[in-house]
Amino acid sequence: MELSESAALDLIIFGGAGDLAWRKLLPALYMAHRHGSLGERHRIIAVGRQDWPRKQYVEFVDRMSRPGIDPASMQPLHWQDFLRRLDYVQLDATQPEGYERLKAACQPDSVKVFYLAMAPDLFTAATAHLHGAGLVDANSRVVLEKPLGHDLASARAINEAVARHFEERQIYRIDHYLGKETVQNLMVLRFGNAIYEPMWRAPFIRSVQITVAETVGVGTRAGFYDHTGAMRDMVQNHLLQLLCIAAMEPPISLEADDVRDEKLKVLRSLRKLTPAQLRQDTVRGQYTAGSVEGERVPGYLQENGVPAGSRTETFVALRAHIDNARWAGVPFFLRTGKRLPRRQSEIIVEFSQPPFSLFGDQSGLQQPNRLLITLQPEESIRLQMMAKEPGSGLRMRPVYLDLDLQSAFTERRAEAYERLLIDVVKGRLTHFMRRDELEAAWRWADPILEGWDSLGDPPKPYPAGNWGPPAASALVARENVLWSEAQ
Ligand code: BG6
Repeated sequence: MELSESAALDLIIFGGAGDLAWRKLLPALYMAHRHGSLGERHRIIAVGRQDWPRKQYVEFVDRMSRPGIDPASMQPLHWQDFLRRLDYVQLDATQPEGYERLKAACQPDSVKVFYLAMAPDLFTAATAHLHGAGLVDANSRVVLEKPLGHDLASARAINEAVARHFEERQIYRIDHYLGKETVQNLMVLRFGNAIYEPMWRAPFIRSVQITVAETVGVGTRAGFYDHTGAMRDMVQNHLLQLLCIAAMEPPISLEADDVRDEKLKVLRSLRKLTPAQLRQDTVRGQYTAGSVEGERVPGYLQENGVPAGSRTETFVALRAHIDNARWAGVPFFLRTGKRLPRRQSEIIVEFSQPPFSLFGDQSGLQQPNRLLITLQPEESIRLQMMAKEPGSGLRMRPVYLDLDLQSAFTERRAEAYERLLIDVVKGRLTHFMRRDELEAAWRWADPILEGWDSLGDPPKPYPAGNWGPPAASALVARENVLWSEAQ
C-alpha cells in the first residue's frame, strides 16, 4: 500500500538503544527527515529494556548518533526538529505488559511499522505480543533484520512464527546490500544497456568474482560474531544477494515478486557442495595479529569476548556453480573477510579470450576483458580492454574505460538504510527478501556449514592485513583466475 504524505505513521524500533539503531537507523532517518522524505505525522518510537524517560533517550541519540552524521547535512535546526519526532517506551520484548504502554504511545489510526533490530530468537515472542495487544492490522508492516536464523530449520521456525500474525506482503526482510546504490545500478547496467546482455552468459563469460573485503575486526560484537562466523554473517545473505543480481534472468517487470522470482531461480540453481568437495572448493580462515592500514591489530583469538580456541571463521572464499543454461561451467568465486588490507566490495566479470590470437607472442601479454564493478568505498564501473601501445611496433597493453559514478552524478547519494527505510514507509518490497528466497539461501549454505562441522578442520590462519590464507589464491589459480588485487 502506498502511503499518502499526510497519513500518520509510527515507526517502532525494537532494540532502540542498540548498536544498529543509533549507528545506522537513526542517522538514516535523520537524513530522510532532512531531505523531506518523512511526512508531518511520521513518528519514531524506540523500544528498549532500559528504564528511561523520553528525555534521556533523546539525549542518548543526540550523544551517540549525531557525531556519525555527515557534517554537510547536520543542521542544528533540522536536528532538533528530527529529535521531536522521537519517543521512547521501556519494554521487555518477551513479556506482554509493556505492549499496552507501546499502544498508548502510538498515534490513533497510524500505520505501524515494527522494525525488529534485535536477536532473532525474540521475534516469535515480539510478534505474538504485538498481535495480542491489538497492535497489528492489515496496514502494519514488520521489518526483520538479518541474520534470520542460524540454519534452514531455525529460519523456517522464525518465518512460521511471524507468518502467524503478518502476511508475506507485510514482511520486509532486510539485507542492506540491496539498498546500496551500485547494487541497484547493476540492474540498470545489465538490463538498460543493449551491449552487455547478449554476452552476459557462458561461454562469453569465463568467471565471476565477488569480494566483500573489510578492514575492521569483530570490534565489540564478539558475542554475536563468535556464534555466527563469516559464512552466516556475510555469505549466506549479502554475497548471495549480489550473486543473484549479477546472475538472474531479466525479470518481466520491476514489481517485487517478478524480481524476487528471478532471484529465487538463481538460488535454486546453486549447486550444493558435497562434503568431499568442501576441502577443494571452500577456504575458511581466521585472522591472527598483524597490521591493517599501518596500524597493529590483535588476532581474532585475542579480541575481547572471543572464547579461547574459537574455531569461528572470519574469512571465507569458495567456488560456486549455477546449474542453468546461462551459467553452465562458469565458476562464481565468492570471498569475504575481516581484517583484510582494504575495504573493497566489487564484482568482477571476466570475459573469455577472443577465439583466435591474431597478435602472436611478441605483442605483449593479451589479457581478457574484465568488467569491474566497485560498490565501495567509491562507486565505479571500469571495463578493462586491450589497446595498442603507441610506437612503431605492435605491443598491447590493458587500459580502462572508466566510469566514476561520483563525478558522473553530483546528486546526493542516500545510504543503503535510508533508501530501504523509505521503501518500507512507501510499501515497496522489491529490495527485500521473500521467504522462499531466504530459505533457498539456507538450503545451499546448510550443507557447507554441516560439512565443515563434520570435517572438524580448524580455520586457516592469516595475519591481519593479508588477503586471507594462501589457499584462497590456490582456489582461483586452479582455474587460471587471479583475485583482483593480483591482476
Ligand atoms: C553486516 C555484518 O551485515 O554487514 C557486519 O553483520 C559487516 O559484520 C557489515 O561488517 C558490512 O556492511 P557494510 O555496509 O559496511 O559493507
